[in-house]
Amino acid sequence: MAISEQTLQTFPADFVFGAATASFQIEGATTEGGRSASIWDTFCGIEGKVANKDTGDPACDHYHRWASDVDLMAELGLDAYRFSVAWPRVIPTGVGKVNPEGIGFYDKLVDRLLEKGIRPVVTLYHWDLPQVLDDRGGWLNRDVAQWFAEYSGAVVEALGDRVSHWTTLNEPWCSSILSYSLAHHAPGHEDEREGLIAAHHLMLAHGTAVPVIRERCAARGTTAQVSITLNPTQVIGPDEPSEADLDAVRRADNVLNGIFFSPLFHGSYPNTMLEDVAHLGEARWIHDGDLRTISAPLDNLGINNYFPTRVRAGDPESNPTRMPGCEGVEPVPAAGALTDMGWEQNPAAHRDILLRSWRESVLPVYITENGSAWPDVVSDDGAVHDPDRTAYLHSHLAAVAEAMELGADIRGYFAWSLMDNFEWAFGYDKRFGIVHVDYDTQERTVKDSGLEYARLIAAHHARS
Ligand code: FCB
Repeated sequence: MAISEQTLQTFPADFVFGAATASFQIEGATTEGGRSASIWDTFCGIEGKVANKDTGDPACDHYHRWASDVDLMAELGLDAYRFSVAWPRVIPTGVGKVNPEGIGFYDKLVDRLLEKGIRPVVTLYHWDLPQVLDDRGGWLNRDVAQWFAEYSGAVVEALGDRVSHWTTLNEPWCSSILSYSLAHHAPGHEDEREGLIAAHHLMLAHGTAVPVIRERCAARGTTAQVSITLNPTQVIGPDEPSEADLDAVRRADNVLNGIFFSPLFHGSYPNTMLEDVAHLGEARWIHDGDLRTISAPLDNLGINNYFPTRVRAGDPESNPTRMPGCEGVEPVPAAGALTDMGWEQNPAAHRDILLRSWRESVLPVYITENGSAWPDVVSDDGAVHDPDRTAYLHSHLAAVAEAMELGADIRGYFAWSLMDNFEWAFGYDKRFGIVHVDYDTQERTVKDSGLEYARLIAAHHARS
């Protein structure tokens, strides 16, 4: 369903329209400017992990093209730009000395964004952990909480006089369960218990960094708006569920959603989740006082959402999902129209998870990522015709409007992504951009969906 002009007018006047990227996915220049290797550089080198053996080079060569990329954002009329800082650029040794060239890159970027009237929204960690820290156990080592807080403090110290919107982590579910239990992402471990440990340490790192971010911003004369970005997903069971189906939904929901919502916003883990994972051994990684640290008050909540998750009851003795505590949960194939990722397009589920996120957190919500991949090509007329992405954009903005209508406090929407980029294990095969990137020439072409997004933003501005 397309979003009507009338519905667009219902978005608050100060609603923020932006686009998002992440350091490893766009920067390239992985060995320049004093940057050290990240766990993703290592992962790309492991046979069979990343499509076509693609690597973080050249990506979008944004490390050299940042200035014209910001100009492009201004042409699109973006209110805000969400990007992430690469820890291995800023502190190549993981802990210790700041690399002036590394932080200098983000310093110039922030200045140019502000010059163009675009609000920088900075994510401190979007999956590129310095390899030197993985060598010391990475997210399995409890010390990572301190390492992350120190690194965050260094970045805020440098940029906090101009940047007030800070996000600690992007999608901790992916950097824990997907990376340590399911082996799909770096560092590629396959251990149910490790996923839980990494998740807890990510939460602890987040909670340890929150007061540091606030203090450093205050010292630089700004009031920090501190946030975390989660990727909750609506878990859908059969239409007429049995008791066992409901139990499967509950188990999946705990390890996909409750695992972060509860510690962050309710100061505890879901009780039933702890029971479901009890067979993995005592949760010795949870120390007294941790949940207080983790539930430090936030100013807003970032939500990345693309698709729902379907499950039903299966054999109670087996766990085909390989997610901790999901014995008896059977994954169900996505329904209806799929994107090029094979992801279900379901705006109603998008609306529902936004409402849930707002209810769980009672915080203003920003959709920090939403979008779709399609096999785009530059046509003979020089344009990129991507009607499917435009339709997805429209239907999901209409879902945002519905969630707001139902009471959710939603303050902004960031399209994923500003431009095509390195899509993790899929390499350069999947294109999510509203701007097309030719990886041979690095030429950027605004896709039809990008032109449509710019038109919607301009219409919203005209009214506000
Ligand atoms: C999200 C990631 C982002 C991008 C999109 C498609 O899970 O945060 O980097 O890969 O998916």
